[in-house]
Amino acid sequence: MKIQLIIYLIFNLALPQLTFANEKDASGVHIYNEVCSVCHSGGVANAPKIGDQNAWKKLINEGQVIITAHGYVGVRAMPPKGGKESLSIGQFAEALIYMVNKSGGHWVSPSKSMLAEINNEIANRKKSQ
Ligand code: HEC
Repeated sequence: MKIQLIIYLIFNLALPQLTFANEKDASGVHIYNEVCSVCHSGGVANAPKIGDQNAWKKLINEGQVIITAHGYVGVRAMPPKGGKESLSIGQFAEALIYMVNKSGGHWVSPSKSMLAEINNEIANRKKSQ
């Protein structure tokens, strides 16, 4: 009886919470694999490769707001939204966080106020294009 109760607790209480805690990471990996890896795993057209700390260092130092915004709008051979028109800024940000954190960075999901800054920078960037 006790063991059954413990098993019940693990499956019904602990596991769903574990999945929940990893949901954001999972969506970042998923989007990275689906959209970004085509270019960023092999370095197509000089795309900064995932895991290449040297290539990412300068970008990471420019900061999450700037790099997220500029990537979303598109930079030179980097297509807007990584070429997937339906990608929201939140989804793009998660995929980028996944790449950055595999490449020497320690970024976390943008707060509401950071998201507002990112959207501001996107608007500025679009105006100057
Ligand atoms: C078709 C190929 C391609 C795809 C798909 C792609 N990228 Fe890129 N990306 C590039 C290239 C090429 C560069 C380098 C641009 C340059 O500096 O000339 C780049 C650069 C970047 C940069 C740096 C921008 C800067 O300010 O210099 C970020 C951030 C980025 N990509 C994020 C992503 C994310 C996130 C995805 C997936 C959602 C993605 N990319 C999908 C080709 C791609």
